[in-house]
Amino acid sequence: GCWIPLQRGKKTREILRQKGLLEDFLKEHHYDIGTKYARSFASQGVYEPLMNYFDTEYYGTIYIGTPPQGFNVVFDTGSSNLWVPSVTCQSLACQNHRMFNASKSSTYQSAGYNISIQYGMGSMAGVVGSDIVLLSTFIDTNQQLALATSEPGLTFAYTDFDGILGLAYPDIAVEGLIPVFDNLMIKNLVKQHLFSVYLDAKSQVFGSMLIFGGIDESYFTGPIHWIPVSYQGYWQISMDSIIVNGKVITCESGCQAIVDTGTSLLAGPASEVNNLQKVIGATPIQYGEVRINCNDIPSLPDIIFVINGIQFPLPPSAYTEQVGQGDCNSSFQATASYLWILGDVFIREYYSIFDRENNRVGLAKSV
Ligand SMILES: *[C@@H]1O[C@H](CO)[C@@H](O)[C@H](O)[C@H]1NC(C)=O
Ligand SMILES: *[C@@H]1O[C@H](CO)[C@@H](O)[C@H](O)[C@H]1NC(C)=O
Ligand SMILES: *[C@@H]1O[C@H](CO)[C@@H](O)[C@H](O)[C@H]1NC(C)=O
Repeated sequence: GCWIPLQRGKKTREILRQKGLLEDFLKEHHYDIGTKYARSFASQGVYEPLMNYFDTEYYGTIYIGTPPQGFNVVFDTGSSNLWVPSVTCQSLACQNHRMFNASKSSTYQSAGYNISIQYGMGSMAGVVGSDIVLLSTFIDTNQQLALATSEPGLTFAYTDFDGILGLAYPDIAVEGLIPVFDNLMIKNLVKQHLFSVYLDAKSQVFGSMLIFGGIDESYFTGPIHWIPVSYQGYWQISMDSIIVNGKVITCESGCQAIVDTGTSLLAGPASEVNNLQKVIGATPIQYGEVRINCNDIPSLPDIIFVINGIQFPLPPSAYTEQVGQGDCNSSFQATASYLWILGDVFIREYYSIFDRENNRVGLAKSV
């Protein structure tokens, strides 16, 4: 295939040399994935293994440029831009991570303008460009991306990941940059216009998986429940109510939720989350932390999210985590937003399918 964009004025020999480098690299990369994750090639989809960092970050490796420079990125269904740190960035968060040197990539093209992206926590500012991105076995050419020249504060300073790869709708892509999954669809690289996510049970470093273009039934049991996307920005859906012990506790007349792999906890509007914390006997301590006595956990109720008429229970083992001797943390977090955020805490329980073809989210009980 002709996947190196032809560059005016480049000698053929140079182009072939670059192509050779990339091909060698790909063989090696493919081989690695093929042996470690043999099951990967059993079904239709293209598999991207995710690392689980203490249940708080799930990330995978991608490569950008020619020759390829490697980065760990969060595959974030709560945003739509791709960015990694730039070598020109002096921020601690950049210096602590792998940084992309654009001058070392013969296929990088600057777009000549700047960008800044705000997240729920943290922000970045940088420059816009495009390059080849290798993810799993995809060769994603002319991918628009941002290189961070500033990552203020400590939010990204000590993360295990270097950057973020957004998987939400183009509508929320800052500067209207074409998101990675859209580019894959435009170039007909995915068999089906959907991807799915399995986040492994607590504290398993390996085993989590993102599958582009496919659904793997070995990751769930029972039926897939399909829920229409209510607004095509985030992966946003309508929730009917939240039930505990047979009673509607909150979200009485319906509410909006997003399914977000980039948020580790389960977040919701402050007053509603505070209600929920009371029901499960969680006591606020300082700095927004909410404690539960670990001994109480076996007697705590399931929290049931009712979505599209279907009940999705979350058992106490899922919504609590041990943080010290006898001390457990509630995994519910209050935010200033009106949206509920069904983060990793929820996705660990429910294999999630993000269907762009039919604009719906599929949820099925994880194995
Ligand atoms: C980036 O790459 C160029 C070209 O190889 C090199 O001259 C420069 O020193 C590199 N910059 C950094 C900060 O490593
Ligand atoms: C882009 O940001 C850099 C700092 O990172 C600044 O020097 C430059 O002037 C900005 N360019 C534009 C077009 O705003
Ligand atoms: C406990 O939960 C809160 C949110 O409720 C979170 O901010 C904090 O980091 C958690 N603490 C630990 C040690 O995980």
